[in-house]
Formats: sequence, structure tokens, C-alpha cells
Amino acid sequence: MEVVKSVVSFMCNSEFWRMAVLWSFSLIFSYLKLFYESLFSQESKFQPRCSLKDSIFSTALVARPVCIVTGATSGLGAAAAHALSNEGFYVVLVGRSSELLSKAISEIKSRNHDACLKAFEVNLSSFVSILEFKHSLQQWLQDSNMHSSVQLLINNAGILATSRRFTCEGYDEMLATNYIGAFCLTKVLLPLLESSPVPCRVVNVTSFTHRNVSFRQADRETISGKFFMKSKDYPYARIYEYTKLCILLFSYELHRKVGLMKKSQHLSIVAADPGAVQTNIMREIPSPVSTMAFAAMKLLGVLQSSKTGVSAIVDAALAPPDVSGVYFFGGKGRSLNSSALSYDAKLAKDLWDASCNLFEEEQVAAQRDGNCAVGNDE
Ligand SMILES: NC(=O)c1ccc[n+]([C@@H]2O[C@H](COP(=O)([O-])OP(=O)(O)OC[C@H]3O[C@@H](n4cnc5c(N)ncnc54)[C@H](OP(=O)(O)O)[C@@H]3O)[C@@H](O)[C@H]2O)c1
Repeated sequence: MEVVKSVVSFMCNSEFWRMAVLWSFSLIFSYLKLFYESLFSQESKFQPRCSLKDSIFSTALVARPVCIVTGATSGLGAAAAHALSNEGFYVVLVGRSSELLSKAISEIKSRNHDACLKAFEVNLSSFVSILEFKHSLQQWLQDSNMHSSVQLLINNAGILATSRRFTCEGYDEMLATNYIGAFCLTKVLLPLLESSPVPCRVVNVTSFTHRNVSFRQADRETISGKFFMKSKDYPYARIYEYTKLCILLFSYELHRKVGLMKKSQHLSIVAADPGAVQTNIMREIPSPVSTMAFAAMKLLGVLQSSKTGVSAIVDAALAPPDVSGVYFFGGKGRSLNSSALSYDAKLAKDLWDASCNLFEEEQVAAQRDGNCAVGNDE
């Protein structure tokens, strides 16, 4: 009886219908666009994969390039960690549970004995945890006699939270995990990426759901989640879509900025959208509803396993070094244009400025509270 009640109340919410109807349309729209472009576009939007043997990421200095995968304990992150360890990367798995991290490492090792793996426990919705990670990572690189740099960062961790929760720093948890965490992690790791003696890359994992966002707002109130508190019910579908638009705006803005910075010339930034994949992303949704949703997607022929869905992320990671500011979708090296709003340079600049202000405030707070030795890496 309790289950029936929770399913009915979940389905009576407008957010559920937004997710069921608009997300399906945006997914189908993305595949139709891919099909149309494959038939009529003059420009080739196919990027080949380069293997490490083609030495895009390796030299004598960096014999085994380091790749960081966030959210590596489940779904697409676990699949990406496995695929990239097969490619020869030293994969750093980032997750919030030491137990799940050990399990993920054993699973990869059971399929690839030679995999080079290292795990770090990090909560990406906490700024202090991100800073602590940076210091532990630097220490580990030094202790292992490895070059003090990172070649690939995959910002994959994400949640679909269905209830309103706040982080210890006071942000909406979904915005903090899906966007603010990825932004802050990239900012703190930028010096390690820039010191790479070979081309390096950031891959931001986004979603086709970003196509449903139409409001042009990227101020402090919005990115911290305060703006969304005006609604009585938690607008989880709208916030999830918004976090995925933010990660795209951030990718394109960083790509533009990198083009202007001399020391970052060999850094590329790309976005990857895996499409619809059967993972644990719907863990907060009543299980009869998520089972129905997966069954409907399977019927439409758009549901993939993690092993297949991860290909857009691996395509993005292994594309030639000059590929930057691109949105990978559909696997097989294919890319698309994301929504028109995601290319809005004014909105991207507003988001960048608001995110940098928030980042600086958190840095000051961490220094004041003595949580971590914060270096000024600018
Ligand atoms: N599945 C899809 O259809 C789909 C479609 C488009 C985009 N995506 C995106 O793909 C990414 C991966 O999602 P998934 O589908 O693989 O979901 P998943 O199976 O639920 O995996 C999410 C991963 O993120 C980690 N994570 C969540 N919050 C974290 C935090 N605060 N700190 C550190 N790690 C955290 C989780 O760790 P725990 O195991 O500890 O929870 C888990 O490893 C997400 O960004 C998602 O938005 C998914």
C-alpha cells in the first residue's frame, strides 16, 4: 500500500510529467538531429579516437598518462574507468565511499590484471573535500615518482535528487554535485593540467535534458539553488536540466578562455552526452516508476547499457588534441550542436563570473577555518 501511495504521489507531480514528456522529446530530437546531420551536413562531425600509442597523451616524461574519473563507483563512471584503464591510462577513481571504490577497483582488476588504478575518497559537493583531494593527489604523484601533472579529467559524478537537500556550505545538493563541484574541481586541478608536458583535456559529462532549459539566468542566487527555493515542491527535473546546461556553458567558456591563455594552449575542453543509459541515476525515484521508464526507453530502442553508453565519453576523451569546445553525442565519434542557449556567450560569462565569485568565497572560508592549506594557483 505504501509503495502504491508513493508511486501515485510521485506521478501526480508536474516534475514527473516534465521528465516523462520533455526528456523523451529532447532525446528523440537529439537522435533525429544526428540522423539529419549525417545525411545533409557538409561538415564532418566525426572525430576519430587516438590511442596512447599515437602518443597524444604520452612522452618519455609521462609514460603512463594520469586520468581522473569522478563518480567512478557506478554506471558510466565505472565503465569509463574500465575503458580508459584498457587504453593504458593510470586511472584515478574518485568516489564518496571507500567500500564502493574498493569494489570498483576489484571489478576492473578482475577484467584487466595490468590496470594501474588509484582510489581517492572525495565528496564533490563539498569544497573542503575537493581541496583535500588536490593535496592528496599531489602528494601521491610525488611519492610515486610520477610527473606532477594530470592529462585527463572526466567530470562525470552526478545525481538526480528528488528532494530538497543542502550541502554543509549551504548549496542545493544537486547543483553542488553536478555543476559547482565540477567547476571547483577543474579550477583547483587547472595548475596540474597546465603543467602537463603533453596535450591534456577536460571532459564534462552533460545530458540531452539541457535542451529543455529556456531561462537565461546564471547569477549567484540561481547557481547556489536559492532561486529554486521559491517553488513549494522541489523542482528536481528543472534543476537537473539546469545543471546540465551549466556544465555545457562552463565547457564552452573555458574553451574560449583557454584559447586566450598562453600557458593553457595544450588544454582542450569537450562535453560528452551519453544519451539514455541504464545506471543507478534514478535511485531516488520509486522503483516501479524507474522500471517503467527504463522499459519505455527500451521499447523506443534508445536505452543503452553502461558499456555502450560510455562510448560518447571515451570518444570525447580520445579525440585528437586539437578538438575542443565540441559536444559529443551518439557514440562512434559523432558530435552535434547542443542547444542554442548553451552557446550564449553572455550567459556563459555571467555563469563564469558567478562561479568564480563563489569559488573565491569558498577559498577564503577554507583558509579562515584552516580546513586545508589553500594555495593561490591563479
Ligand atoms: N544514465 C543516464 O541515462 C545519463 C544520461 C545523461 C547523462 N548522465 C550523466 O552521467 C553521469 C553519471 O551518471 P550515471 O548514470 O552513471 O549515474 P550513477 O550510476 O548514479 O553514478 C553516479 C556516480 O556519481 C557519484 N556521485 C554522486 N554524488 C557524488 C558526490 N557528492 N561526490 C562524489 N561522487 C558522487 C556516485 O557515487 P555513489 O556510488 O557514492 O553514489 C556514482 O559513482 C551523471 O553526471 C549523469 O548526469 C547520465
